[in-house]
Amino acid sequence: MFKIELNQYQFMAHKGETILHAALSAGIDFAHSCQAGACATCQCQLKAGEVRELTDFAFVLDDEQLAEGIILGCQSIPKSNLSLFKSDLK
Ligand code: FES
Repeated sequence: MFKIELNQYQFMAHKGETILHAALSAGIDFAHSCQAGACATCQCQLKAGEVRELTDFAFVLDDEQLAEGIILGCQSIPKSNLSLFKSDLK
């Protein structure tokens, strides 16, 4: 289990669980749509920690976003404790 800090929230992710799934399981209103790495609705910024990417983010995120550490919550599995920021999260 890894601890995830997301804006003002904290929750745990089980081994192999995506950030999106873990956030929804914790009752957080984490914006998402396709859940397949195609729409980027689930994008958030990785501020600390490491993730494993299930698909190549470069298909839906531009170079500037990649440079800022933007990742896709539905396609990212924590490899460590994480600190994240999601700009559209209330
Ligand atoms: S929900 Fe569409 S890319 Fe994650």
